Amino acid sequence: MNSQSGEPPTMETATTRRGFMEWFSWALLGLGSVAMAIPILGFFLGPILKPRADEWVDFGPLTDFPQNSTRLVDVLNPLRGANDGMTGKVAAYVRRIEGETFQIFSTHCTHLGCPVSWFKESGLYMCPCHGGVYYEDGGHASGPPPRGLYEFEHRVEEDRLMVKLGHLPTLQNPGSAHVSGKNS
Ligand code: FES
Repeated sequence: MNSQSGEPPTMETATTRRGFMEWFSWALLGLGSVAMAIPILGFFLGPILKPRADEWVDFGPLTDFPQNSTRLVDVLNPLRGANDGMTGKVAAYVRRIEGETFQIFSTHCTHLGCPVSWFKESGLYMCPCHGGVYYEDGGHASGPPPRGLYEFEHRVEEDRLMVKLGHLPTLQNPGSAHVSGKNS
């Protein structure tokens, strides 16, 4: 029945209505696909189109770092994503030599990136994966790593230690870090 005139629909109006519904369904599907694709495209293309720079992170007051000592600090990565969870953290070894003289090391081995551990007793960083060893000043001591540890830029601001962090350093792209040690 035609709801407005009370007459049954003709072949022509039925075809038109069916055509419209098909068109409308395809349009809805298209809109849904575009809406779903935007965040996915943004995830993959965002870093390429607009790479984010490393940022300064507050590591705390200088009094947290005794002179002539090394300690592990973990902070939130300023470039973390909303869903990164625990992987949004980044760790660094802070070595305070004296006064405002520091070295800030990435925990990533310069061989294949395993996390190195600091051994105060021997004054060495050791990598559990293939036996890489680094001196207290980050220089390469032995094993397969080709260079010393990555060292982050840092500065002291109003008695607080600030460290430039973000992208994980690699030999090809150390970001704001540089490679420490005699053979860097
Ligand atoms: S990853 Fe550290 S020695 Fe290979």
